[in-house]
Amino acid sequence: MDNSSQIKWLLHDATCSFNKLSDTAKLDAELLMCHVLDCNRTYLFTWPDKTLDEAQLAEFKQVCAKRALGHPIAHIVGYREFWSLNLKVSPATLIPRPDTETLVEQALLLMQEHKDKPFLGLDLGTGTGAIALSLASELKTWEWIAADFVPEAVTLAQENAKLNQINNCKVIQSDWFENIPNTKFNLIVSNPPYIDEADSHLSQGDVRFEPLSALTAGDSGLSDIKIILSQAKQYLHDGGLVMIEHGNTQGKEVRAIFCQNGYSNVNTFKDLSANERITVGYF
Ligand SMILES: C[S@@+](CC[C@H](N)C(=O)[O-])C[C@H]1O[C@@H](n2cnc3c(N)ncnc32)[C@H](O)[C@@H]1O
Repeated sequence: MDNSSQIKWLLHDATCSFNKLSDTAKLDAELLMCHVLDCNRTYLFTWPDKTLDEAQLAEFKQVCAKRALGHPIAHIVGYREFWSLNLKVSPATLIPRPDTETLVEQALLLMQEHKDKPFLGLDLGTGTGAIALSLASELKTWEWIAADFVPEAVTLAQENAKLNQINNCKVIQSDWFENIPNTKFNLIVSNPPYIDEADSHLSQGDVRFEPLSALTAGDSGLSDIKIILSQAKQYLHDGGLVMIEHGNTQGKEVRAIFCQNGYSNVNTFKDLSANERITVGYF
């Protein structure tokens, strides 16, 4: 009997073919199988001997071929889970990263005593809407504005708000603060582009399929952070908070930019790999 179209052998072969390109080869294969079978991972472990029909087999081969060429899993399946949300992704912007959940987590901790207030939050460079929509889903009495420069990202974040039934977040197109209403916010968050334009990692792995507009910034990756921090002050209530995600080696420089711009209680939080990742300051 030919067992080659059984779940377990297809996963085995796909894992082997992804081993060179991915640190998560087994998980990648499982996620692609779940996508094709429209099931969760538990199903795969419960029914390893099930066989795929012809159409499923053809689709699995097709998505595996894409992954073998380096396409990110999120682009192939069309979504990524972030916080408690399921977010549509596209090549127009960054695929949300687990490290960015650190920003969401810290924001909720720092805003704990204000969680039921009628506060206003702003997310600059929202991409899929990951940060704003996660915070809007948790802080239900708050109103959010989420902005991105790229029109396709704005549409995507709007779709994600609808898909996740989030009604307290408005997504607009804006070049940083250009189209932001002249009002005061209690919290401004941003995960801006911060990779140095000459960084060799840009030609490796999944980032090859993400747009440079979401990844790189001039001035050793700090130019957008400088713009945001110099202008955010005008848009903050007294005692308002700014939170910026940055590269793991940029903590010292980013703290200095916060201090030069007059923010106080400047502090950096570490990500899941214990790297400096989120710097915050009050105005
Ligand atoms: C690193 S991605 C972050 C996306 C999302 N916030 C996240 O954490 O997954 C940076 C985002 O900033 C946007 N961006 C780049 N330049 C911008 C600008 N001048 N004004 C507003 N957004 C900008 C990009 O389009 C991209 O969506």
